[in-house]
Amino acid sequence: MTTINTRKNIWITGASSGIGRALALILAQQGNCVLASGRNLQALGALAGEHKNIKILAIDISEAIDSDAIRQHFEFLNCVILNAGTCEYLDVDAPDWSMMERVMRVNFLGAVNSLEAALPLLRSNPLGGGHIVGVGSLATVVPFARAEAYGASKAALQYWLNSLRLDFAPEGIDVTVVNPGFVKTPLTDKNDFEMPFLMSAQQAAQRISCAIESRPRVLNFPRRLSYLLHFMRLFPSLWQRLMVADKK
Ligand SMILES: NC(=O)c1ccc[n+]([C@@H]2O[C@H](COP(=O)([O-])OP(=O)(O)OC[C@H]3O[C@@H](n4cnc5c(N)ncnc54)[C@H](OP(=O)(O)O)[C@@H]3O)[C@@H](O)[C@H]2O)c1
Repeated sequence: MTTINTRKNIWITGASSGIGRALALILAQQGNCVLASGRNLQALGALAGEHKNIKILAIDISEAIDSDAIRQHFEFLNCVILNAGTCEYLDVDAPDWSMMERVMRVNFLGAVNSLEAALPLLRSNPLGGGHIVGVGSLATVVPFARAEAYGASKAALQYWLNSLRLDFAPEGIDVTVVNPGFVKTPLTDKNDFEMPFLMSAQQAAQRISCAIESRPRVLNFPRRLSYLLHFMRLFPSLWQRLMVADKK
């Protein structure tokens, strides 16, 4: 469903850095009213100082969120962007299995907590037609070594969003799953491996901002990496050989 470009009330989680920060600025510059959330109040304050259309909310999405915290800024929401996320890699020699819970708590349950708070406001829109955007990852197309926690959390997120799309369709709420490849942000600055087709947070945010208008079911980018990974998915043994050879 395509909508006319009107001023929207948009809540974006994980807007204190990286993709979310760049996206909050683009959406604000387009004339939308943006509520930018994260835990780092100082970083959020700096973001709010960059554009008058940006309001901020310091919250930890791994805990339950009160809808009233959003309602203090908006009577209703047109769009919620479930972007906040974290990444931890497994140390195979000394696995810290508690990381599974930590990562799921933010990447999956954090999105659930956020939507629980946003849904009453999406439903309050007098014109209807809300939009839920979730930021997944191309990492779920094929398994990546040491990415057990991250990949599982994003796969859970994607399935949940795809199911929600079916359940919300009758009331006109669209669901978009955004799957970025490698984007240069504080999250990937920690990576110690090569990141093919690495793009900037600004480039990633530009692509996502277009999806706020066009509302596709799924947005995969960059296309070259997406095609390559979807192709490799057809040859799991070859993919495994490449991954294992890379570790030697
Ligand atoms: N960078 C990539 O290559 C890439 C690729 C595919 C998908 N993604 C996804 O894109 C999204 C944005 O990531 P990014 O790369 O922009 O990373 P980032 O710069 O590290 O941003 C992550 C954001 O999530 C917020 N966040 C983390 N834990 C939180 C919590 N418990 N409660 C509230 N907010 C929390 C952080 O804010 P605070 O620290 O202030 O809480 C920050 O604003 C993530 O979902 C990530 O998985 C990234």
